[in-house]
Amino acid sequence: MPSAPPKNIILIGFMGSGKSSIGRELSQTLGYPVIDTDALIVKRTRKPIRQIFADEGEEAFRDLESAVLTDLESEQPTRRIIATGGGIILRPENRAALRRLGFVVWLVVSSAEIVRRTSRNRDRPLLDNDDPEGTITRLLDQRTNLYRETAHQEIETDGLTFPEITAGIIESARYFFATL
Ligand code: S3P
Repeated sequence: MPSAPPKNIILIGFMGSGKSSIGRELSQTLGYPVIDTDALIVKRTRKPIRQIFADEGEEAFRDLESAVLTDLESEQPTRRIIATGGGIILRPENRAALRRLGFVVWLVVSSAEIVRRTSRNRDRPLLDNDDPEGTITRLLDQRTNLYRETAHQEIETDGLTFPEITAGIIESARYFFATL
C-alpha cells in the first residue's frame, strides 16, 4: 500500500514576511513541531548563515537548502510546520520538493513592509549592502513568480494579525488535506 501523503504545512515567502513568527503560532495552535530550514543548515554546518555566505558563497548555501529538503522528505513525523529561507524557491528541484512535502503557503507582504521589518537587523547577508531597498525590489522581481508557482495558497498578510493569518492557514490546510 502506498504511504499516506505528508501533512506538513510549509511557509514560503520573502525575508521579513513573518514565516518564523507565524510558524511558531501555527505550532502552538496545532501542537505540531516547528522546523526552520535556516536553523537546520546552521545546525548541520555549525556556522551562522552570514558566515556560510562569506566563506563559501550563495551557491553553497543553496546546495545546503536542497540537502536539508532531501532530509526532510525522508523523515518522520510528517505533521510539522516547516518555515523556509526566502530564497529556497530559486531551484526547481526545491520547488518540487516543497510541494511534495505538504501544503505550501506563500506569505505575501508588500515591499514597504519588508523594508520596514528587515531594516531592524543586519543578519541577512543578501541585504547587508549600500542599497537594501533596491536589492529588495530586484529580488522580489526575480522571485514573485517562483513563490506563486510553488504555493498551493497565497495569503496577503499586510494589515492582518498573526492569529488571523494562522486561522486562515489552518482552515485552508484542513480543506487541502481532506481533498488529497
Ligand atoms: C535568504 C533568506 C534568509 C536566509 C538567507 C538567504 C534569501 O532567510 O535563508 O539569508 O535568499 O532570501 P529568511 O527568509 O528567513 O530571512
